[in-house]
Amino acid sequence: MSIVGVKGTHDVFNSESCEFSFVENVMKRISEFFAFTEVRPPVLEHSELFVRSVGESSDVVRKEMYTFNDKGDRSLTLRPEFTAGIARLIVQNKLTNLQELPIKMYYCGPVFRYERPQLGRYRQFNQFGVECVGHSNPIADVDVISLAYTILQSLGLENVTIKINTLGDEESRNNYKIALKEFFAKHIDNMCPDCKQRLELNPLRILDCKVPEDQEIVKNAPKMSDYLTPAAKEKFQYVLDLLESMGIPYEVDDTLVRGLDYYSDTVFEFHYKSSKGNNYGAIGAGGHYDKLIKEVGGPDVPGVGFSFGVERIVSVLKDDDLFPKDIYNGLDFYVMPMGASSQATAVAIANAVRMDGYSVDMCLDDVKLGSMFKRAEKKNAKFAIIIGENEIANSKVILKNLKTQEQLEVDIGSLRETIDDLFNENECECCCGDDCDCDCEDGHECHCHCHDKKEN
Ligand code: HAM
Repeated sequence: MSIVGVKGTHDVFNSESCEFSFVENVMKRISEFFAFTEVRPPVLEHSELFVRSVGESSDVVRKEMYTFNDKGDRSLTLRPEFTAGIARLIVQNKLTNLQELPIKMYYCGPVFRYERPQLGRYRQFNQFGVECVGHSNPIADVDVISLAYTILQSLGLENVTIKINTLGDEESRNNYKIALKEFFAKHIDNMCPDCKQRLELNPLRILDCKVPEDQEIVKNAPKMSDYLTPAAKEKFQYVLDLLESMGIPYEVDDTLVRGLDYYSDTVFEFHYKSSKGNNYGAIGAGGHYDKLIKEVGGPDVPGVGFSFGVERIVSVLKDDDLFPKDIYNGLDFYVMPMGASSQATAVAIANAVRMDGYSVDMCLDDVKLGSMFKRAEKKNAKFAIIIGENEIANSKVILKNLKTQEQLEVDIGSLRETIDDLFNENECECCCGDDCDCDCEDGHECHCHCHDKKEN
């Protein structure tokens, strides 16, 4: 019997790999524009880290962690999210002492949660996210939301809904928890076994319950907004005012509490419904955390961050046909040696052209020319380099444009130069039209600096 992949995991290959790379590259590039730098924490952490930070009352810690004892009998966990690991990394490496604050980091990689697999829900999936640690002004919250919003816009996701709420400061949350406990105590006999536990561990978690009958009860529960201290209210209003001034649309959702225990003050989620009507849940989420760094042994500094679910973003972009067509790898050249005696020349040409920065594959089988063309088409090659025995005798090859079917005979000695000319001609796209003083044709990505001159 053949072995299949683990339930809830998925293989990414061929065109989907191009889609993942495209999404991750846009996210990385824009995060770098916002002055975040890359961090690569390990996948394995001590289980205690997540218990202490994500919280014992969260579903992630209670039910979803991939935890095991290693050969040294240490309890280890495959990270179910990045934020706790980043906090540990900052504290362990004393970055709050060594670096200018705030520390701004982005990350990308797999995370693991033992959830029930369904549309947009996996047991191994990828997150891209950022954390900004060590700045107490709520403007940091807005900066991070603005980064996430810019990324989604750049990917073409125009109709994103940003749901936002505040969990207030510690005093607000303590008062709210007391009110929730009193309210749910009256209904708990009719609620699910999980909620019975949540009432003891953290009644805020009941607000996240997905059981429909419990959700009906939750609808009448006290609202966080009624328990905020004046300082927490003011802070939240400041965040909303800043978002407004930046033209970032939002919806205040006072039922939004998030499923991880480390949050305080601002929390938010990004939602997007594809035009096919598929609902993948939140495509990203995040929030502010006042005590996380302290909880893992560091100084008392706050942080804020978000994580996107990369699979969910790839799915909505695919559903709405938003991937640019040129992201799919195509070959620049397919080299076609005709007969065994042409192979040595073919290998040498293929390698030389590769060294010039073009992608080149070569037919390794001694097959007919027609079948080589079929292979080139399947590989989406732009040009064929045909090397026949007659041509070798004359030190020539045939260069064929597989789109226009135009072909020309080129001296082997000048092939690389011809190729460069060909690509420069095709790729130089200048928008300066007749005014342009460079050698290119027309288009819009020329490096001739006409723009700079015009602007000055
Ligand atoms: P989270 O809401 O648990 O937050 O996850 C962030 C995103 O990961 C979700 O919005 C969703 O897009 C994606 N996601 C979650 N579970 C799955 C799943 N089973 N399959 C596919 N995608 C999933 C966090 O992880 C926080 N660390 C975010 C954060 C960063 N808060 C502050 N900084």
